[in-house]
Amino acid sequence: MRILVTGKNGQLGRSIYKIVNTANGDNLPPNEFIFVGREELDLSSESSISHYFDSNDRFDVIINCAAYTAVDKAEEEQELANQVNHLAVKKLANIANEQKAKLVHVSTDYVFDGAGGKPYKETDKTNPINVYGKTKLAGEKALQAIMLTNAIIIRTSWVYSEYGNNFVKTMLNLGKERDELNVVSDQIGSPTYATDLAETILKIIDNKNYQNKEQLTEIYHYSNEGEISWYDFTKEIFKLAKIDCKVSPITTEQYPTPAKRPKSALMDKEKIVEKFSIKTSYWKETLCSCINNIENKI
Ligand SMILES: NC(=O)c1ccc[n+]([C@@H]2O[C@H](COP(=O)([O-])OP(=O)(O)OC[C@H]3O[C@@H](n4cnc5c(N)ncnc54)[C@H](OP(=O)(O)O)[C@@H]3O)[C@@H](O)[C@H]2O)c1
Repeated sequence: MRILVTGKNGQLGRSIYKIVNTANGDNLPPNEFIFVGREELDLSSESSISHYFDSNDRFDVIINCAAYTAVDKAEEEQELANQVNHLAVKKLANIANEQKAKLVHVSTDYVFDGAGGKPYKETDKTNPINVYGKTKLAGEKALQAIMLTNAIIIRTSWVYSEYGNNFVKTMLNLGKERDELNVVSDQIGSPTYATDLAETILKIIDNKNYQNKEQLTEIYHYSNEGEISWYDFTKEIFKLAKIDCKVSPITTEQYPTPAKRPKSALMDKEKIVEKFSIKTSYWKETLCSCINNIENKI
């Protein structure tokens, strides 16, 4: 299969690249992967998207890892966030239909308001409370309206990795610089190591259920197992990295941000686990691997 991966410089794009280009990828069937970043395919520009697909051969699968992910900045840059997270996804869905390609699109737990009180199922009512979540939901809906078959949307949460900017890397740096840190303790979520999500996506693409033509388009939830607050997550990061920094819990009200965040947008993962026989790792196990890789610069 010819597989296009967008967002090659992002956490998920780089994690997919790492797997298909290292020994881990030896068990994967031989596919041709093409990784693109905004230089080749700028999702904020309809003409750039058209130009890219007009000047390349058709793809069997498009994995859309690119997104406007700056949650706070999106409150100001609504138009750009909407272009990348909504209108570009609509365009990719139309192109995937034309090319008879499958589309794997990644979305977020921020499509929920976090007031549900129990882990969200894929069918639960969405109600995003910030611009980022609204634009991601608009992208999901546009995709579903255009591609009744052949697409999957994977909603994930709290993604971290060895790459780019993310909570784990920020805390490792801050913990080494400071003696004391205050971290929000009343937002609960499930961290997701980007490598685990990347492996899940590659496993799905390789699955016969997925490869069957004309599979109905479906939404799936995926994160690592377990739930935790940012405060407890930070304490575990410091423990694993042997960083001596005092962590104190604070409330969301004590740490105001431009974008509101759901208090608890935990997601039920039963559907993806059953349909594709996915094994979900406990967040602490894979956090440990990620920190080892960061500290050893792997
Ligand atoms: N990070 C999280 O905590 C989180 C949580 C839930 C869901 N998700 C979703 O998971 C997916 C992967 O996220 P991630 O953490 O890998 O994000 P990321 O590290 O921020 O990477 C996003 C990538 O998208 C690219 N991009 C942004 N605007 C673009 C444009 N106009 N044209 C082309 N590429 C553009 C960025 O390119 P540059 O490198 O050039 O800036 C970046 O490489 C996204 O769909 C995201 O919404 C993420």
